[in-house]
Amino acid sequence: MAIEAPATRPENPRFSSGPCAKIPTFTLDMLSDAPLGRSHRAAGGKAKLKAAIENTRAILGVPADYKIGIVPASDTGAVEMAMWNLLGARPVEMLAWESFGAGWVTDAVKQLKLDAVVKTADYGQIVDLASVDTDKDVVFTWNGTTSGVRVPNGDWIKADRQGLTICDATSAAFAQDLPWDKLDVTTFSWQKVLGGEAAHGMLILSPRAVERLESYTPAWPLPKIFRLTKGGKLIDGIFVGETINTPSMLAVEDYLVALDWASSIGGLTGLQARANANLAAVEEFVTQNDWLAFLAADPEIRSNTSVCLTFEDARIKDGAAFAKAVAKRLETADVAYDIGAYRDAPAGLRIWCGGTVETADVAALMPWIKWAFETEIAALSVSA
Ligand SMILES: Cc1ncc(COP(=O)(O)O)c(C=O)c1O
Repeated sequence: MAIEAPATRPENPRFSSGPCAKIPTFTLDMLSDAPLGRSHRAAGGKAKLKAAIENTRAILGVPADYKIGIVPASDTGAVEMAMWNLLGARPVEMLAWESFGAGWVTDAVKQLKLDAVVKTADYGQIVDLASVDTDKDVVFTWNGTTSGVRVPNGDWIKADRQGLTICDATSAAFAQDLPWDKLDVTTFSWQKVLGGEAAHGMLILSPRAVERLESYTPAWPLPKIFRLTKGGKLIDGIFVGETINTPSMLAVEDYLVALDWASSIGGLTGLQARANANLAAVEEFVTQNDWLAFLAADPEIRSNTSVCLTFEDARIKDGAAFAKAVAKRLETADVAYDIGAYRDAPAGLRIWCGGTVETADVAALMPWIKWAFETEIAALSVSA
């Protein structure tokens, strides 16, 4: 007998962890003020780029003496630019607890060939942060998008550290508290919590990071696309909107629109409250359904953006095939797109809960997950 589908469906089935749902009010005509077909170095374009930087500063509360630059190649570009420019001056610790952090370890060890201390944890866990030596340069991901595990706070980072902290915060910025005094390099992409477009990355530098840039020249060559200094001085233009190469002014406009929306809902506090409410809706459902569990069992380190779930039922023999079938069923029913776990992560579901997602939609999705789960379980017993 077919299991009855829930009566209510999410209004917006977009729960992808990147690119993430656009702002709830989004329509393409909101981008009509983009200075298309004009030079990004003309006054209008420059003003837009500068506004993108300054509005980011205002909403995220970035200190006035930190530099914010718009750089090429989304978050990956920003992280690799930081690593290639800054690492090699001091000993390095690399921290990873999921796929993207593991990618930065590969960069440091295999590409830059640094003799780094590497600390890793399994999916769902985090490394022992108290053991991290912040007198070394430390590279880590604030929110592990593929495991749904986040850093709980910056208490483990010494105020008087000798090293630099280089933090990939792409799925944390605009949803979680980032302690700016503890972060020397912070990166993110517009395509995540604000539901913007990819293409550009944001690179935020503390005064100590700038000092390193101006006093240290790495042993390896830097392509033009990575160069932040000229003649031993920071290229200041990059941090007022004079980008290294040509940006997409359509993507810039889209980011400005998303920042305006963020302000209208109460800025960072409003965004965090929305993400927290979305996570709470999932938590309530998981509490009521013992066949579902969080990959991050410990609520202290559980993400409020990339929420990762696993199926816990003895009848499931092939976990990957089962989770895939559930995700496919939800996609086909047009209730949830792109919620299968990341390809390298344990089998399960990943539901984006960042601020552009409506809590009513998360709540409406939950009974559909139950429907898809029960339907797939029933199919198992038929085929057995
Ligand atoms: C933690 C983390 N780092 C890096 C990336 C790569 O981001 P991008 O494709 O915007 O460069 C992602 C993308 O999902 C991510 O989640």
